Amino acid sequence: MTNAATPNLDAFWMPFTANRQFKGSPRLLVAAKDMHFTAADGRTILDGTAGLWCVNLGHSRERINTAVARQIRELEFAPTFQMAHPLPFELAARLVKHMPGDIEHVFFTNSGSESVDTALKIAIAYHRARGEAARTRLIGREKGYHGVGFGGISVGGLGNNRKNFGPLLPGVDHLPHTFDLEHNAFTRGVPDWGTHLAEVLERIVALHDASTIAAVIVEPVQGSAGVILPPHGYLQKLREICTKYGIVLIFDEVITGFGRLGTPFGAQYFDVLPDMITTAKGITNGAVPMGAVFVRKHIHDAFMDAGLPDNAIELFHGYTYSGHPVACAAALAALDIYEQEGLFTRAAEMAPYWEDAAHGLRGEPNVIDIRNIGLVAAVELSSRPERAGTRAYEVFTRCFERGVLVRQTGDTIALSPPLIVEKPHIDQIFTTLAEAIRAVG
Ligand SMILES: Cc1ncc(COP(=O)(O)O)c(C=O)c1O
Repeated sequence: MTNAATPNLDAFWMPFTANRQFKGSPRLLVAAKDMHFTAADGRTILDGTAGLWCVNLGHSRERINTAVARQIRELEFAPTFQMAHPLPFELAARLVKHMPGDIEHVFFTNSGSESVDTALKIAIAYHRARGEAARTRLIGREKGYHGVGFGGISVGGLGNNRKNFGPLLPGVDHLPHTFDLEHNAFTRGVPDWGTHLAEVLERIVALHDASTIAAVIVEPVQGSAGVILPPHGYLQKLREICTKYGIVLIFDEVITGFGRLGTPFGAQYFDVLPDMITTAKGITNGAVPMGAVFVRKHIHDAFMDAGLPDNAIELFHGYTYSGHPVACAAALAALDIYEQEGLFTRAAEMAPYWEDAAHGLRGEPNVIDIRNIGLVAAVELSSRPERAGTRAYEVFTRCFERGVLVRQTGDTIALSPPLIVEKPHIDQIFTTLAEAIRAVG
């Protein structure tokens, strides 16, 4: 889709994109408001994916736009190394009020990938600060996505994201994933089968000894792999085993954070308190890049009470843009909207209607599973022999042509609309998707 204003597409090497295919037939978005994008040819596209799981409040919210414009004029940058400005303090204090338990501290980053690598480094340094320097091993999970830094791809479990980039971090193990069509296909919400898979952590501990293990990192709901849900009691079990062996438990909530499941964070939804939570995306509603690692008191205390002289830096880690003024202004305005419009919990109100609409696609051609939780859903299509991913890609492009943005990973279509979604939008998303699934065949 191009028009007279289409730029030359050669120079921009697009991320996670089939560049040659895209540039032969580009899909360009030029504006957005609330639930909709405007495409380059003037068509309105209903956003069924909150951009890339980030525009939770809907597009181009005036409050955020104004705050960003004001901030950039007043103080566009100030360092936060041995200096500061007021905004990250104000933002951190407000954010932790929405956190469960004694999660009382925040380390700011600029993305989910940076949040993950920050949390992994904090976990290792935390054990060292307490005199357990042998605890360096990291445990991720098959099919996990933790961004694209070397730490994130090492604990991540998506083969394509790892295979061309080795050697990855040494000393990393993976838990098995919980995806199982035989037992769990078409389950509404969290499945019953698979809780026992958390017990594999006991076996990993037996193999390596707890004294070598720093942290376990999991997404409460695996998003990028195609919305894979934790079985009932699975996350509780991981928590129990981590507590038993002194292992730091990190929830990667880059997708599940900021209201996606119907609670502020997935930790509250599943009633499991991890030691750290990594976030990004919804923190600024996608308007300005920002990430944050939320940290429980005992971890932060271990650094502050390590017996170092006052002038010693407790953690040799940080980014030029940690706590960037413009990102903080966007996040503070976004937080106002989450709080004032009840958007941390709105997904819970819409979830029953969403679930029924999603499962209404059962019986459509090639649909082999439907999964849902909060305002997230996935429709799994059977793969064509020898041409995995082509069926869902065609569904994605057909939906786009018919005015709905869905997300394709492999042969899964994933959906995660802005949390301001209304019932007619939900109807449009699933009607369009059903029509595309039938047409593609
Ligand atoms: C669970 C999870 N962690 C980390 C990331 C990486 O975030 P970013 O692309 O901002 O680096 C993502 C991105 O989708 C994610 O879903």
